[in-house]
Amino acid sequence: MTTIVRRLKDRLSKYNWAGFYMIEKDASGEPPMLVLGPFVGADTPHKRIPLHQGICGAAASTGETVIVDDVNADPRYLACSIETRSEIVVPVYVHGEVVGELDIDSHTPSAFDEKDRELCELCARLVSEYLERARGEKA
Ligand code: SME
Repeated sequence: MTTIVRRLKDRLSKYNWAGFYMIEKDASGEPPMLVLGPFVGADTPHKRIPLHQGICGAAASTGETVIVDDVNADPRYLACSIETRSEIVVPVYVHGEVVGELDIDSHTPSAFDEKDRELCELCARLVSEYLERARGEKA
C-alpha cells in the first residue's frame, strides 16, 4: 500500500495527495471508522472518518468509486488542504465487503477522468487480492 501511494504521487504530477483509509470495527459497539493508513502528501486533520461523513465516507458506504470534479461545490467534502480542487475515492473490497479505500486529491480542478478511475480501481484491486490471499493463508 505504501508503494502504491508513493508510485502514484511520484509518477502523476496531478496526484498531490494519495492515501489509504481502512475500516476499523470496534468490538465495543462504536460505529465503524475509516482510519488513515499509508499516505503521501501534506498532513491531514482527517485521520479517522465516520462512514457517514465526507467523500471518503460516501465511497465506503456505497461501495462505489466517487469522483468529485470540484470539491468546493460538494457539501460532503471534508477539507484537508485549501489547495485541493478535485478528488477520487475508490473502495477496496475483501470477499465482497468494503474494508477500506484509496483516496487521491489533486490541486487541479476536474483532474480525474475514466483513465484515472481505471488506474485507481486497478490499484485498489491489487490490495484486495493481496488481503484476500493473506486472509486465506490465515484461515
Ligand atoms: N476529503 C476527504 C477527507 C480526506 S482528505 O482528502 C485526505 C473527504 O471529504 O472525505
